[in-house]
Amino acid sequence: MIIAIDGPAASGKGTLARRIAQHFGFPCLDTGLLYRAVARDVLARGFRLDDIWAAVSLARSLDPATLEDDGLRAPGVGEAASRVAGIPEVRAALLQYQRDFSRKPPGAVLDGRDIGTVVCPDADIKIFVTATLEERARRRYEERRSQGEDVTYEEILELITNRDARDSGRGSAPMRRAEDADLLDTTKMDIETAFDAAVGLIKRKISQ
Ligand code: CDP
Repeated sequence: MIIAIDGPAASGKGTLARRIAQHFGFPCLDTGLLYRAVARDVLARGFRLDDIWAAVSLARSLDPATLEDDGLRAPGVGEAASRVAGIPEVRAALLQYQRDFSRKPPGAVLDGRDIGTVVCPDADIKIFVTATLEERARRRYEERRSQGEDVTYEEILELITNRDARDSGRGSAPMRRAEDADLLDTTKMDIETAFDAAVGLIKRKISQ
């Protein structure tokens, strides 16, 4: 069984995906880490993020063992990831790894931006997780303040606005809800409520 979870930054999709995977006993792939790892490798080797040749060749030689690196989740890496994620050949180079991961029995949970539309269009379950821009900015702001960062809400709001525009405006695999995906709006939900709602959706789909 393949469970595809997509949505914009700070919608709660990553936490939900991990909780759902744990609940059903499936492995979970946070596909954002793949793009983050390519961006990390591009910068670590001294290339520019718009150096298509460098990004594509590093995507092709990406070592999945390095996806666990702590530094990958740093805020600046998310921005850089969204830049290399706009390069179609980078996306193509990462596709097979994601598909192979999804097809291993007994099943898998993958979260990202294009899982239900491009990576696993035949997924058994598709959920598009969202929340208002202001609520997502508030969550990211709280998260980064709690990590001791000196940022303002306005700065985060601008970052998320730009990231949404880049992720949904690109030509290759833009972020969008698949036509057959269920929408889960978490604006007024805490993680427990969102998790219960997602499990409810999945159980209804399975029993259909
Ligand atoms: O956690 P957050 O939403 O900040 O970021 P992420 O899920 O780690 O993704 C970082 C960036 O990678 C996104 O802004 C997207 O541009 C890109 N990405 C993508 O294009 N396709 C995916 N399946 C996953 C991430």
